[in-house]
Amino acid sequence: MTPSSHFGKPTSRIEAGAKVAGIAKYAGEYNVPRLVHGFVVSSAIAKGRIKRIDTADALAVEGVLDVLTHAHRPELASSDEKYKDEIAPDGSPFRPLYDEKIRFSGQPVALVLAEELEIARFAASLVRIEYEAQPYVTDFEAERKRGAVLQPENAPSHSRGNPAGAFAQAPVRVKAEYRMSVEHHNPMEPFATTAVWEGDGRITVYDKTQGPQNSRNYVADVCRMPRDKVRVLSPYVGGGFGSGLRPQYQLPLAVLAARALQRSVRVTLTRQQMFTLGYRAGIVHELALGADSAGRLASFLHHTVAMTSQFEEFQRNFVQWSSLLYRCPNAELRQRLVKLDQNTPCDMRAPGGAEGMYAIECAMDELAYAAKIDPLELRLINYSDTDQMENRPYSSKALRECYRQAAEKFGWPKRSAEPRSMREGNDLVGWGMASGIWEAMQLKASARAVLTANGSVEIASATADIGPGTYTMMAQIGAELLGVPLESVTVKLGDSSLPDAPVEGGSFTTSSVGSAIHGACRAVQKELLQLAQKAAESPLAGAKLDDVLFVDGKIRHNRDPKREVSVADAMRAGKADRIEKEATAEPDEDSKYSHYTHSAVFAEVRVDAELGVIRVARVVSAVAAGRILNPKVAGSQILGAVVGGIGMALHEETSTDHRFGRFMNHSLAEYHVPVNADVHAIDVIFVEEEDDEINPLGVKGVGEIGIVGTAAAIANAVYHATGKRVRDLPITLDKLM
Ligand code: MOS
Repeated sequence: MTPSSHFGKPTSRIEAGAKVAGIAKYAGEYNVPRLVHGFVVSSAIAKGRIKRIDTADALAVEGVLDVLTHAHRPELASSDEKYKDEIAPDGSPFRPLYDEKIRFSGQPVALVLAEELEIARFAASLVRIEYEAQPYVTDFEAERKRGAVLQPENAPSHSRGNPAGAFAQAPVRVKAEYRMSVEHHNPMEPFATTAVWEGDGRITVYDKTQGPQNSRNYVADVCRMPRDKVRVLSPYVGGGFGSGLRPQYQLPLAVLAARALQRSVRVTLTRQQMFTLGYRAGIVHELALGADSAGRLASFLHHTVAMTSQFEEFQRNFVQWSSLLYRCPNAELRQRLVKLDQNTPCDMRAPGGAEGMYAIECAMDELAYAAKIDPLELRLINYSDTDQMENRPYSSKALRECYRQAAEKFGWPKRSAEPRSMREGNDLVGWGMASGIWEAMQLKASARAVLTANGSVEIASATADIGPGTYTMMAQIGAELLGVPLESVTVKLGDSSLPDAPVEGGSFTTSSVGSAIHGACRAVQKELLQLAQKAAESPLAGAKLDDVLFVDGKIRHNRDPKREVSVADAMRAGKADRIEKEATAEPDEDSKYSHYTHSAVFAEVRVDAELGVIRVARVVSAVAAGRILNPKVAGSQILGAVVGGIGMALHEETSTDHRFGRFMNHSLAEYHVPVNADVHAIDVIFVEEEDDEINPLGVKGVGEIGIVGTAAAIANAVYHATGKRVRDLPITLDKLM
């Protein structure tokens, strides 16, 4: 690529002004005339059936318009296929207000519709429900111990060599179980849908979602409307972390109510109700690592058991990561599930990777102590240049450089190896490290680019921007390729009527949508050059696309800068006032390479020697993710994800009250996340990594990598500080006492 004026430049979010000024509207903020407010009534039991719903008292309240229940609602689709969204796991998706069955505590069982939100909420308290309760299971550990564990058909698994035999013979061994709690995403913006009844058979829906087309297809299918009569918009999303990947139940409820009343309806969930959506599944890892006395891995066994619901088999790849990172001739990787009477878990930042790498990197730390080798040195001894799952090389892997730069910045060589050996006053100081890895995925996506004779550009795609800076990324690519200032680019996204794009997730938006924008802009360039060459004696006569640059609103010959034509002149010559192109980009299925993003994370903790209070004093995260288009917003992604990793290590945990089969700490007061006082120095380093194989932009994506390995680095630092190995996240102070 030619020298860039936009790529690699720290650029503030182009929509920042709109957000700061409160102009950016979120799904629950669209006010339309005669808007009806819906309030969800949630099931009080975990399993059973509704015997009777008495809505008379609620309906008697002045201002209440209707109460929808499974027995009183417009028709809903009746086959699983219609309820399966773009990323639905195997199984039979939950159907809101479908029948009398209760599948989890907090399940929506009625929707009260009223002229005012307060009236709807009050009337919801008057809906009387008689349940027939049935026995339920919500105790993950108890189910696992009693062997109620299933082997899903599509579970990732891998085995090579003779792992059990090699483990038995290894002179250095580690065998341990690691646990992680249920976590909830808790984005700032609550889930909300405003369904605008257009009165002509069409419905316009403002939804909190990471995928407007996923929501559009789902809600049209479920509510039995033609997809082209439904338009879903989500121009701004106040955080997601994965919770908005699948359509949530407020969406079909709002649309169903709009159809029932033929009026516009808004349904907003409360913070408590957001704990009835998906969550990061609790998981137990069993690891057994064998190595020779020089620390070379001989055997790697990693078995997991994770939670899912009774009706869907949610699972991600928890176990593959060790075979991508560490050379080892013998391995056995297996995953199983326990079914609980809870809602289905869902993706939460780096799903699979954050969980798997916590356990793998803690076990590697334990192996380092067992082999009396520095933890960083152990990673380098076992460094793998190939993907042992697929038996192929990486398109790029600058992980060695991540280790080197992060270790240097952190000061790792000054570490004393012994646990409890770095005391400072009353603080036990601990230094820990871990590796990070995440998939560099690309999905099929389309985008449109429009260049106007006055030099303005519009870039459009149906993706969302849940906060990582997607608007800005799209504008930067348009500006770069078409040679205009960033201010000349408008971006349209978060609208199901725009060119097709997948949900925003998996760190794949820049590679997927970015590649499509690249394709669309290249098509505009090509046509613009042709127009420029239509002028009599065009200065660019005979030039090929690769001979010219698009800069400063001009097409310029790259070997002879005097040969140039402005965009306006080119359009005039070609008698055009705009060029509009759409392109679709797909990953190269024939690639002979594996594509991954890597990181090295180093953490310092300070543990109060008497009270056990843990403070994460410093984190250094060095990331190799291909080309970084925008170090400012990419850096913020890593910062935020490191904070998520601190939460995973020390704070976040949703507990179940098994007497009711219900998550009990369902508020921001009782579900702890790191606050400012918990977050100290975080250094982000982007390590240079060129990758011209992966996609035309050479990008990998940075949405998730920052959380992977962070919890392990902190847990390892806590061990180094205290000499106590807590294998159960979050590490709360009671576990250290
Ligand atoms: Mo993320 S869990 O890919 O939204």
